[in-house]
Amino acid sequence: MMAQRSFMPEEFQLGCPSIDTQHELIFAMYHELLTSQQQEAECYDLETVFLGLNGYAATHFAHEEQLMRRSGFPGIEAHVHEHRVLGQDVALLRGRFVQAKSVDEANAIAGEVAVFLHDWLTHHIAEVDRELCLYLQEHAPTSHEV
Ligand SMILES: [Fe+2]
Repeated sequence: MMAQRSFMPEEFQLGCPSIDTQHELIFAMYHELLTSQQQEAECYDLETVFLGLNGYAATHFAHEEQLMRRSGFPGIEAHVHEHRVLGQDVALLRGRFVQAKSVDEANAIAGEVAVFLHDWLTHHIAEVDRELCLYLQEHAPTSHEV
């Protein structure tokens, strides 16, 4: 499933089609969050963002981890650990969001989610996932086409 309009800059294309396609989705979620913030929508639906992130993290991380196991990727332990931490951070932010006592507090958490996602894109995708994709291209040229 390819996003109709891409919000993922060229330099984030890692050369693994299935992974790149999934990464498009998190860029689209990030774009949606930033757009909502810029419009200063009072009660934009951060809960929907969290639901999307939860589901996305589960299926996307499982996909990458399957490719790591199949290809014998040597960095699997550290990479899987980052996935677990990202998943826990999503859960922690959501927990705080549902307990927010005011719109201002909810908006502040939305700001934190934007920073969190930015770090996910610029560190995890641009560095950690890039290393995985380079390995897959060299060691398992067809296994990522699932
Ligand atoms: Fe990853």
